[in-house]
Amino acid sequence: MPNDGYLDSSVHWKVRTGQIEFAEPTHGEVADAILDGGLATEVGQRLGSGKEADVYLARDGHRLVAVKVYRQYRTAHRGGRPIKLATMGERALLEFDLLSYAYQGGARVPKPGNRIENMFSMQYIGSPDAAAPMLQKATLEDPESFLQATLAGIEGLAEAGIVHSDLSPFNILVHDGAPWFIDLAAGIRVDRLGWPPWVRLTQAMESLRHGLTMLERHFRRYDLEFDAADVLNRVRSQIDRFGVMTPP
Ligand SMILES: Nc1ncnc2c1ncn2[C@@H]1O[C@H](COP(=O)(O)OP(=O)(O)OP(=O)(O)O)[C@@H](O)[C@H]1O
Ligand SMILES: [Mg+2]
Repeated sequence: MPNDGYLDSSVHWKVRTGQIEFAEPTHGEVADAILDGGLATEVGQRLGSGKEADVYLARDGHRLVAVKVYRQYRTAHRGGRPIKLATMGERALLEFDLLSYAYQGGARVPKPGNRIENMFSMQYIGSPDAAAPMLQKATLEDPESFLQATLAGIEGLAEAGIVHSDLSPFNILVHDGAPWFIDLAAGIRVDRLGWPPWVRLTQAMESLRHGLTMLERHFRRYDLEFDAADVLNRVRSQIDRFGVMTPP
């Protein structure tokens, strides 16, 4: 049984009574779950797979939508700690909340649809013929303006109250020459003070620094540079409204 030692007792019980299966669900089973959950009226091909979720192209009435489905068990996440059944519903909820929050704050993220259990729907980014490529795979027509739009987008997310803590050319889609930020799963809310703010803001700034380094590396292939420290400073002044990060 996969992940044996880590499963909680309720999961063991479900295994014994045959309530859950360990085989990876087939495309048809996932499609049924999406349709049963009312997230779409027709399910198409898989658009992409990440460490812990698959994203499917679907149709909801006349609109194309993307549906992200967190996998229940198998995950190639760093450290390889297996995931409990309930946790994937929480992950989907967390990402969906962050996506909704970012969207309401005007950030360049797909418009959220609905969430049910471990799945949620969102605006499909792409044309009817092809999904938008991730920045990593895209050939930019105007890299300079794309870079500027990306940096502005990062600040836009911060204005909306979120730092994308997994920023990379894999989590930015290119559509009509403009960037779209996806995969907010590990985003950090930087606009409320529930947790010691210095800890949270420091963590956010560190992950942003890492993301900007990834982007600097990527844009070097177009001979473009930008001042990451400058972006960091602007985001810091944006999110550190109470001055907790600035020494007196
Ligand atoms: N709204 C969307 N429109 C079009 N394609 C999308 C959309 N959202 C995701 N995709 C596609 O699905 C892929 C996986 O999405 P995402 O990065 O959110 O999943 P993930 O499993 O969390 O990835 P990882 O954990 O490896 O970063 C993306 O690289 C992209 O190609
Ligand atoms: Mg991703």
